[in-house]
Amino acid sequence: MTDSKALSRERFAEHADEYVRSAAHAGGADLEKLVELTRAQPQWVALDVATGGGHTAIAVAPLVAGMVALDLTPEMLDAARGLADERAVAGIEFVLGDAEALPFEDDSFDLVTCRIAAHHFPDVQRFVDETARVLKPGGRFVLQDQCVPENTVSAAFVNLFDRMRDPSHHRALSSDAWAEVIRRAGLTPGEVVHFETRMGLDEWTRMQSCTPETVTRLREMLADASEGALEWMAPEGEGALQSFLVRQFVIAADKP
Ligand SMILES: C[S@@+](CC[C@H](N)C(=O)[O-])C[C@H]1O[C@@H](n2cnc3c(N)ncnc32)[C@H](O)[C@@H]1O
Repeated sequence: MTDSKALSRERFAEHADEYVRSAAHAGGADLEKLVELTRAQPQWVALDVATGGGHTAIAVAPLVAGMVALDLTPEMLDAARGLADERAVAGIEFVLGDAEALPFEDDSFDLVTCRIAAHHFPDVQRFVDETARVLKPGGRFVLQDQCVPENTVSAAFVNLFDRMRDPSHHRALSSDAWAEVIRRAGLTPGEVVHFETRMGLDEWTRMQSCTPETVTRLREMLADASEGALEWMAPEGEGALQSFLVRQFVIAADKP
């Protein structure tokens, strides 16, 4: 396992319960749109990659015949299993594995989903190539993730800001860059929907148990940000009231 994946696993093991209880992960307009874009059919078999606390798998499972939920972190799988039991959602198979080397045969799934996770993967092209491989012809891929501006300098700033708070954040891409990755994997990108959420800096850093020094550094970064980054993140307020925009998108793609 690469250092970056080991770091992801270590941090998510430490924060598994927070991710199960986190309001931002438990639901919202992005999860509703993701579920809608799956166009799930009752006879389908689905795979949720990097299932985390299991919120996406639990939302989709009742709509399909079979659901497999995969994650790199055993503690997250335990937490997701616990949430599925609590919600009385049966029939989800939990599998330990890596998004970039999916432990499944070719043409196994009608649907692959992945939400709030791909920015942790060191090689997103490998992940989408793997997704294309395990999807059946005619199958659907629905991805939700954070996105960054098209401008590469502003994008680098937004990624640095995220990585300062969570060192397992590898890199978020712009939605155009994602469409290109999807096309290169042989899938056909379709509808893209953008979302923005105003996030309090205090709450955002608390979720990752950031030190006071890191919070101060993040505040300094926002104060020094370029015009392009400021436009994207739209910071407001000061001190405990400081907030900024987290931008996300959902994209659907089909395997011909
Ligand atoms: C924020 S959580 C996912 C949230 C979840 N999908 C949801 O809808 O609430 C990110 C997850 O990505 C997982 N992860 C990170 N790198 C991974 C990889 N290479 N393969 C599989 N899972 C990975 C982590 O273990 C963590 O559980």
